[in-house]
Amino acid sequence: MQGPFHAVKVTDNVYWVGAIDWSIREFHGYSTGRGTTYNAFLVLAEKVTLIDTVKAGFGDEMLSRIASVVDPSQIDVIISNHAEPDHTGELARTIECVKPSAVYASKNGCRALHDHYGLGEKLTPVQEGQTLDLGGASLTFLETKMCHWPDSMVSYLAEDKLLFSQDGFGMHLASHERFDDEIDPALLRYEAAKYYANILMPLGRFVQKTLDKIRDVGVPLEIIAPDHGPLWRSKPSLPLDWYAEWSAPTRSDKAVVLYDTMWHHTEQLARAIGEGLGDGGARPTLLPLSGTDRSELATRILEAGALMVGSPTMNKQLYPTLADALTYLKGLAPTGLVGAAFGSHGWSGEGAKLVEAALRDMNVEILAPPTAARYQPTPQGLQDAYDLGVSIAKELRQRYPRT
Ligand code: FEO
Repeated sequence: MQGPFHAVKVTDNVYWVGAIDWSIREFHGYSTGRGTTYNAFLVLAEKVTLIDTVKAGFGDEMLSRIASVVDPSQIDVIISNHAEPDHTGELARTIECVKPSAVYASKNGCRALHDHYGLGEKLTPVQEGQTLDLGGASLTFLETKMCHWPDSMVSYLAEDKLLFSQDGFGMHLASHERFDDEIDPALLRYEAAKYYANILMPLGRFVQKTLDKIRDVGVPLEIIAPDHGPLWRSKPSLPLDWYAEWSAPTRSDKAVVLYDTMWHHTEQLARAIGEGLGDGGARPTLLPLSGTDRSELATRILEAGALMVGSPTMNKQLYPTLADALTYLKGLAPTGLVGAAFGSHGWSGEGAKLVEAALRDMNVEILAPPTAARYQPTPQGLQDAYDLGVSIAKELRQRYPRT
């Protein structure tokens, strides 16, 4: 299939043949403001091998890129490192089109691919540590369960010291540039952190197992090729170091003050708490939910030490935006946070209490009882909120002194 899309050379034997999704802005709850890529790779060995495919609807782009290097019918082997549909939506069609001699996945991957697409008889499971001889190149498979799904595995191309890492070390970032050294380093760190926070934060212990396995390979990696975003070639140890840091996790004297407000009263409390946090020597960030999406919130939480949450009371409940955000955060299971609840109410006053219950449910260490205001915070109420910020800052400075 000819077309306007071309492969990008990664090494003498490896080409990127994926797709760029410039328009996606939501990825099952993850706000993808910069789009994403679905990376697939061609290994030119005696057995021409395709590593992963792309999301449904992007198959023509992938096939066009493949055709710029080889006729797709020359593909002998397909490897599916991860069964999630953003990497397998075009797998059945690709199998139909190129008729490979074998399609390999992990045992769990074969099961998932059969359940998704009914591909059972077309799939061959690979074992942990198995090496596949492609003729002039060899791929070794390592299971990386729960990074991101139970089926996940990575494939190591020894000859090029290249790791095809599927979701791991990726980011949602659409760009025509394919390599880390072509992109602003600050943007790389931000988008990698956002991806980790929203996809892998609840799976930290599995991430650490994956890091151990990669280290045990015992050969310096020269390239890490994830299934989303740029490839790491300038300093491939960098995302490994970041994942070690984030999976620990690393807490700090940063404090997130998350809130929504009905008549600006909860907002007044948030501002007073934030002022106290800053004056007390912590580094606060106020996140009004009217202008903050869930995935930005998760990113901020990744390196914070404290989470202060404020909600108005509405019909005896949390404000709905807080319920949404706290449900999302609970699923990401952050650990090691301290915090407290606050909020304003009219007559029944459940909001701040319900926030505290939600924080306890998330295993946030509560350092103070809820700070509540009836309607408008009084001057004393604002002073109390400020003092709460100062006391939380003191605690953070003690726990996480800056060096
Ligand atoms: Fe990019 Fe778990 O899929």
